[in-house]
Order: sequence, then C-alpha cells, then structure tokens
Amino acid sequence: MQVSRSLFDEVMVPNYAPAPMIPVKGQGSRLWDQNGREYIDFAGGIAVNCLGHCHPALVSALKEQADKLWHLSNTMTNEPALLLAKALVDATFAEKVYFANSGAEANEAALKLARRFAKNEFGEHKSQIIAFKQGFHGRTFFTVTVGGQPAYSDGFGPKPADIVHAEYNNLDSVKALINDNTCAVMLEPLQGEGGIITPTADFIQGVRELCDQHKALLIFDEVQSGVGRTGELYAYMGLGVTPDILTTAKALGGGFPIGAMLTTTAIAKHLVVGTHGSTYGGNPLACAVGLAAFNTVNSPAVLQGVKEREAVFREHLQALNAKYTIFTEIRGQGLLLGFALNEKYQGKARDFMLAAADEGLLMLVAGPNVVRMAPSLVIPEEDIHQGMALLDKAIAKLVAKA
Ligand SMILES: Cc1ncc(COP(=O)(O)O)c(C=O)c1O
Repeated sequence: MQVSRSLFDEVMVPNYAPAPMIPVKGQGSRLWDQNGREYIDFAGGIAVNCLGHCHPALVSALKEQADKLWHLSNTMTNEPALLLAKALVDATFAEKVYFANSGAEANEAALKLARRFAKNEFGEHKSQIIAFKQGFHGRTFFTVTVGGQPAYSDGFGPKPADIVHAEYNNLDSVKALINDNTCAVMLEPLQGEGGIITPTADFIQGVRELCDQHKALLIFDEVQSGVGRTGELYAYMGLGVTPDILTTAKALGGGFPIGAMLTTTAIAKHLVVGTHGSTYGGNPLACAVGLAAFNTVNSPAVLQGVKEREAVFREHLQALNAKYTIFTEIRGQGLLLGFALNEKYQGKARDFMLAAADEGLLMLVAGPNVVRMAPSLVIPEEDIHQGMALLDKAIAKLVAKA
C-alpha cells in the first residue's frame, strides 16, 4: 500500500499537524524521508533522541532484550527495571523509583504521591498545588491543569481543584500563594515549552526554602531538562537545590517510551500497594533501552561534550544574528537552546521552523516567539556546521520576504 501524508488526514484524529514529509530512516543526527531527501535533525524528537537516531548501544540493547522477554506487567518484576532503578538511585538524590511510560504519567504519579503524602502526614486540608504560568507538565487532565497554559486545559469540563499558578522567576508571587495548606510546588528547573526560561539561583533556592517552611514538597519536572540535556545529568545538580520528587522521561528512553518518578524512601512509602500503577510501567524492553541510554549519557565525556556543543551552537547563532538581526537573545542551557525573535519577527517562530525544514533542517518552536533546538547530545560537530548553513539559507529567504 502506498503510504502518503494525505492518509494522515484520512485516518488520524486531527489533533496534530505533522510535516508534509514522512521520515522513514534515521541515523545519528540525520533523517531521510520517503523520497530519500536528507534532513539534519536539530529537533531530536523534542528532546527525546538524546543519542540521535538508531544509536548502536540502544539498538543492541533493544535487540538483545527482544530475544529474551518483552512484557510481564507488575505482578512480577524484571531485571532491566531493577537495573535501571538502581542506576537512577545511584546517580541521583533518589532512593526509590516508580516507572511510567511518558512524562505526563510520571508527573501524574508525582502529583498523586504529593497529595497522598500530605493527606497522610498532615490531613485532608493540605492539598494546594502551586505551579507556574507557562509551565508544561503533560496532557493528562491533572498534569495539564497543573501546567500554566489554561488554553490547554479549558474545555474539558470541571478541572482537578486546588491548583494555583505563580510567576516563574518571581519569588514574591510564590510567597503570596504558599501557606500551610500547600502540599507541593511543581516546576521545571528550565522551562521548556513555555519559551526556554532559565531559573535564577535566588528564585530556585527561595522556592526550596518556602517549601521547607510550609512543609510542602518540591517537585522538579525534569522530563525535558533531564538526562544530560543541560550538560548536567539532571538540571537540579547544577542549581544546588535538591527536590523531594523528580520526574524524568523523554531522553531517558532515547526514543523508546519510558518515564520515571524519583523520590526518597520517606515520601515513597505513602504509595502503598494498590494506590497507583500502570500495566506497562517498568516494561523490560523500555527499561533495557533506558539503561543503555542512561549509562551512555551518564559519562563525563558525553556531559562535557554537551557543553562544548552548546558553545558551537551559540557561536553560530550569534554569527547569524550579526548578519540578519532576528533575535534579542539566545535562551537555554546545554543542548536545549532557543532564540527569542525580536520585535520585527514577533509571532513568527513557526515560519522560521518551516523555512528551515524547506532547506532540510528540522527545528522546533517554544511558543510563538522562540525557535527551539534540542538535538542529539552527541551530534557530530560537522552536522552542527551543516545544519547552521541550512539555517542561514532559510533565514536569508525569510528576511528577504519580511
Ligand atoms: C517539562 C515537560 N513535562 C512533561 C511533558 C510531557 O511529557 P509526555 O509528552 O511524554 O507525556 C513534557 C513534554 O513536552 C515536558 O516538556
């Protein structure tokens, strides 16, 4: 059967608007479509393909596990899940791990755990969740309501209650909301979808102190910022602030769906048998690939390489801006980078993304005014140079039309 993009419109629910081309093969930071056209990938499956496409360590972990055992459900445990949990515990503040299949599910578990912990330890009244405007935590009804864009949660009937939103990087706005009924404060230690906003040290430390004062749990959503993306294994490690609960997904599976919630023993003990679960959570295939991805990224060479590549990206972007004057600043850290378009190009981030795709370069947006990149953490330097040459062409065409 001939598969074409028009089949999408025929058979798929219309909640996405995918690109006109259909990729059929990927290798490293390159993709090829049905017509054999090559693309350089600065999008990385939205910060998922941390080791690019079809990295040999992930392919061999998947193949090896595929011949052994695919699925059990949580009536039994399995070796890959235990090995990955042990690796996560050894490398982070966490003492306990819960596996899910996505970022939203990891966050759903985090929020339910925080509510249950507060209820058991302090009583029903302690249920308020403070999150942040422009924050993003997934699309389940609980997580999308905690997310800071009401447009994503409106129109689905009554929302989960007792969730309020403060302003990111504005400690006073948190102070104005937090009280002894606050059960948790949830934030991304580098806001991704909301425009790539880095937290200030004062803000993040201040939030930690406020949580301690009011006996509220601090939840870091590291679904996008985790597993090497910022050049730290987890972003919290570079901030000097440790959360009570951390969620991780995306890059954790390097392209295979997996999510995890990490926490301490004292908090985890409240999620007793029967309180929460998932059929696929901790699936052996996902955990085998996750272990290979995590162990590969968690090395000084890869993490240092992220910082070196960041410098190369920044240098190119500055040069492009010197030539075309399109953005006001480069945002982000490590290989989660974006440029915030200037006055002249407000609302045009998508146009830049589409123009780049026309030239054979895949990029992302973060809202209407920020063009985002989240490439492989091991992208070859040559691919960065070639991708930037394509971006140069795309910008030249856009600027000529503007
Ligand atoms: C910070 C953050 N949290 C949660 C999610 C949701 O993850 P998923 O789409 O795997 O459910 C995302 C996805 O973009 C994210 O960036």
